[in-house]
Amino acid sequence: MIEVQGLTKRYGDFTAIRDVAFQVEKGEILGFLGPNAAGKTTTMRILTCFMPASAGTARVAGYDIFKESLEVRRNVGYLPENAPLYFDMRVRPYLEFVAKIKDIPGRDQSKAVKRVLGLCAIEHVQNQIVGHLSKGYKQRVGLAQALIHDPKVLILDEPTNGLDPKQINEVRELIKSLAGDHTIILSSHILPEVSKTCQRVVIINKGRIVASDTPLNLDARLRGSQSIAMQVRGPAKDVMNTLKSVEGVKEVKVQSSIGGELWRYELDVEPGKDVRPVLATTVVRSSWDLVELSTAAMSLEEIFLQLTTREEGVE
Ligand SMILES: Nc1ncnc2c1ncn2[C@@H]1O[C@H](COP(=O)(O)OP(=O)(O)OP(=O)(O)O)[C@@H](O)[C@H]1O
Ligand SMILES: [Mg+2]
Repeated sequence: MIEVQGLTKRYGDFTAIRDVAFQVEKGEILGFLGPNAAGKTTTMRILTCFMPASAGTARVAGYDIFKESLEVRRNVGYLPENAPLYFDMRVRPYLEFVAKIKDIPGRDQSKAVKRVLGLCAIEHVQNQIVGHLSKGYKQRVGLAQALIHDPKVLILDEPTNGLDPKQINEVRELIKSLAGDHTIILSSHILPEVSKTCQRVVIINKGRIVASDTPLNLDARLRGSQSIAMQVRGPAKDVMNTLKSVEGVKEVKVQSSIGGELWRYELDVEPGKDVRPVLATTVVRSSWDLVELSTAAMSLEEIFLQLTTREEGVE
């Protein structure tokens, strides 16, 4: 649904993004993750035909962003960093105005407004002045304007920026509910945001893509090994030695005592193998109590830091 190749943007001598390439499948939510000044907004502006790239190509909903920009705009809903709202208008007339400028035929306009009022749960504020709404509701109105022409693709630039946790959750759920029917790119510099909302993550740093994968695969790829946490009630030394002898286990560390003979262990295991069933049987066979057994996944936050620091100094 979205194909980006070799996208480069220069502002004078400064290259804001370089050779950016990624794909988004139909119905997918892609998280576009990067620190401040990484090039997220720049990329999104190019994909929505707000400005041209210096080099590279992209197709959105089957249309070339350079040669068929009108078609691209028809098929894309864009929520910029600062939602394009008219603060002195009331919500409904504002959306009616957007419907008009987006070329929705007169007879369909009121239906379109009704649809997005419902979709974004803003019916009850439709008669309020936009400028008087809370930030979260302004953001919903922003989403409503992006959705009004029922676009195939949604490009959302930090849609939950500045919202309180409750509003973040609500907007996140709203975005999730839009996937499937819509293909979505969502930018963020907040990591839990993308891991919770997106099936796939593209990480951009200093204008370059440094990783592109599912949150789960990113995790596995970056770890030379995987970590497993266990709580076992039994003699610590014996437990350690026995766990160490299990195939695929590289290291066993005692983490902390929980009380009596109950200890918490951390195991480094080879990636790609699931040794948990064998670990469980081994403990039970030795007549110890297995109290906990879980994989300690590396957080996306750690991955992000690792990837972005790795790129330090690379020109
Ligand atoms: N019009 C412009 N002229 C010159 N430089 C620009 C312009 N727009 C953006 N830049 C620069 O390009 C780089 C990327 O900016 P961009 O806004 O794309 O980053 P971002 O990833 O969206 O960051 P943020 O998380 O802060 O929104 C930055 O160094 C920025 O200063
Ligand atoms: Mg930005």
